[in-house]
Amino acid sequence: MKRRDFVKLSSLGTTAIILDGCKTKDSAEKKPIVYPVGMKNIKVISTWNAGLQANKVAFEVLKNKGVAIDAIEKGLNVTESDLENTSVGIGGLPDANGDVTLDACIMDHEFNCGSVSYLKNIENPISVARKVMEDTPHVMLSGKGAYDFAIQKDFEHQELLTESSKKMWKEWKLENNNVLPAINHENHDTIAMIALDEKGNLSTGCTTSGWAYKLGGRVGDSPIIGAGVYLDNQVGAACATGMGEAIIKICGSHAIVELMRNGSSPQEACKIAVQRIKNSNKDLKDLQVGFIAMNKNGEIGSYSLYSGFNYAYQDAQESKLIDSKFDLEWD
Ligand code: GLY
Repeated sequence: MKRRDFVKLSSLGTTAIILDGCKTKDSAEKKPIVYPVGMKNIKVISTWNAGLQANKVAFEVLKNKGVAIDAIEKGLNVTESDLENTSVGIGGLPDANGDVTLDACIMDHEFNCGSVSYLKNIENPISVARKVMEDTPHVMLSGKGAYDFAIQKDFEHQELLTESSKKMWKEWKLENNNVLPAINHENHDTIAMIALDEKGNLSTGCTTSGWAYKLGGRVGDSPIIGAGVYLDNQVGAACATGMGEAIIKICGSHAIVELMRNGSSPQEACKIAVQRIKNSNKDLKDLQVGFIAMNKNGEIGSYSLYSGFNYAYQDAQESKLIDSKFDLEWD
């Protein structure tokens, strides 16, 4: 990212509101907390390098006084529609049978949430998840039901397996004789995002084609509210990338929000969640997980089990990639 590309909005104003506070480690009393609101505080974070481009689009929404949920949808659409990205949306690597199946979920500042899992032939699952949230009484639609719903909502049927992802899948089939590959940062990089808008409201979402060459029918953490993402607007938001199975087992994103509610910083909360995964899995080989979090004040944090995880940050002053803190060195 070149310096001239950075967004400068230093003239934008700011203000603050006081909302009910939350319980802290030290005190069971409710204390008033000053939450910053205003254009100066708008920001977006998202997982991995692809987050830089996604953040730009999300930030544009926020800069124009848009709401966080729109920023999340528009930002994540960028990565979903990127043909070069082999782990999200169109061009995502398929399951062991050669089927591209997508998972996504989205959550706003009022506990509204929507999700799709095992969705085929639709380029932008995060937008379908938002429709589930807004146009149905449900939280989650899966498989054919999710596809039929998307078509009914005028999403286009698309072939998601590109020539290059088909070639990679065929090579994998020949070389691996159907042995599942390890999940790691090379074959897997779910994009998960958190946005804070000018009203001081948070939203979050994530979208993925999941573990490359997974067993047919496998669903990861990304469509599961509490695992792939979670948000309480009075506290903060968290979202995940990496081996979904390990994230689901500790309800990773929900755990981080609860840790923040009880006084942990976003950074401490992400670290504790990763250490929970570390302590509850006997075999840590190839088990990469990473979390990002933002509290209501706009403070951010991240942590991964292994080295190599990074996330993209954008606010009114700068756009940058941040290397996450981690527990173990990747060999
Ligand atoms: N974290 C995404 C997945 O495991 O599918």
